[in-house]
Amino acid sequence: MAIQAPRGTHDVLPNQSAAWQHLEQVFREVSGRYGYQEIRTPVFESVEVFDRTAGETSDIVSKEMYTFTDRGDRLCALKPEGTAPIVRSVLEHKLTADGNVLRASYITPIFRYERPQKGRYRQAHQVGLELLNSANPAADAEIIEATVRFYEALGLEELSIRLNSLGRTECRERYRAAVLEHYQPYLATLEPEVRARMEGNPLRLLDSKDPKAIEARQGAPSILDFLEPEAQAHLAKVRQLLDEASVNYILDPGVIRGLDYYSDTVFEVTSDQLGAQSALCGGGRYDGLSQQLGGPSLPSVGVGMGIERALIVLEQLGKFPQPPKPDYFLISTGEQVLEKLRDVARNLRGQGYRVLYDLDARSVKSQMRQANSSEARFALIFGTDELSRQAVMQKELATGEQREIPLTDLVPTEALA
Ligand code: HAM
Repeated sequence: MAIQAPRGTHDVLPNQSAAWQHLEQVFREVSGRYGYQEIRTPVFESVEVFDRTAGETSDIVSKEMYTFTDRGDRLCALKPEGTAPIVRSVLEHKLTADGNVLRASYITPIFRYERPQKGRYRQAHQVGLELLNSANPAADAEIIEATVRFYEALGLEELSIRLNSLGRTECRERYRAAVLEHYQPYLATLEPEVRARMEGNPLRLLDSKDPKAIEARQGAPSILDFLEPEAQAHLAKVRQLLDEASVNYILDPGVIRGLDYYSDTVFEVTSDQLGAQSALCGGGRYDGLSQQLGGPSLPSVGVGMGIERALIVLEQLGKFPQPPKPDYFLISTGEQVLEKLRDVARNLRGQGYRVLYDLDARSVKSQMRQANSSEARFALIFGTDELSRQAVMQKELATGEQREIPLTDLVPTEALA
């Protein structure tokens, strides 16, 4: 069999790339309105960037990372997520040394050795925002608001914004113990894999998709009942700011997140259009991440939004962005008109029009077929009779309407030698 793309990866084909470019354009536009500037970090990092931050108990680090040893014997990893590399870069370049906040945006591939299915890939792509060096709840609200505005600008509808707080270290310790106690009677019924994951981080039981774990979740304690007063006040302020911004959210203590670096605010946006992999994006506050990398305290909050998942939803809504159509398809009726045709094509392109013609100048019938399938707005037919009058036949392909037009309607007089 011919060589294929690695399992879980996809080529973005020419007729799909316009949709990607559109999404990226909308992202740049919306994030720019909030003052975010793009940061680009390498596709691979030293493995400890992720070991130390994402949490050795998270699936992403313990099972899914693409690691390799380079020829200099350094242990590297393809980035499984975008946040830790950005904090690494911010620390390395001392970007917050002036004490100000830093707003960074990014567009990046991520690599996770997951079981591929619809909406879940081994190379996926995210657009994301990180707001670094602010402990203010206004930062959390800004990230969530910008996320929602991005999805609105893209045309996504009926999304659920799920908000939760994971509190701070002390409350999480107490909550972990309470969760373990709740699940104790059910432990024997759980799959060994679910149990192993739980032993690393009991909170993962709360967002497990395992049917037995879902059953056992009934009556489980809610983290919201454990929050320290500071965490409660932080959450209350974020909620107030979201209300002010008319962002409708659901308070959902089931939002736990698959990375271990979060504290206080966490959130996800989900869509019913997505099936099992329903999360369009996820994010939250990661005040301790900088210190895990050996840096100073750097309270920060951010979001990573899956590009493929947003495009799946757009497609299901019948809104998949289409490639732009050519303005003109130029049709030659023989060798003798080709030079003039190329001249006009060059000139129209110079004016900014999208122009196509058949390099091989096949039969007029074949060129007409190509013009129709290109969905160009106009075909311009270069016939010797018309050219002797400095004119061409213009056919509007959608209506079939055809009329002779002077070449000077298309290109300036001085360009017509
Ligand atoms: P995450 O929840 O692991 O968070 O990923 C964010 C989003 O990326 C997911 O909601 C999903 O849309 C998309 N995604 C993740 N993995 C895959 C995959 N295998 N296939 C397709 N799409 C995927 C993070 O990555 C954090 N860095 C987000 C963050 C930024 N937190 C703070 N700042």
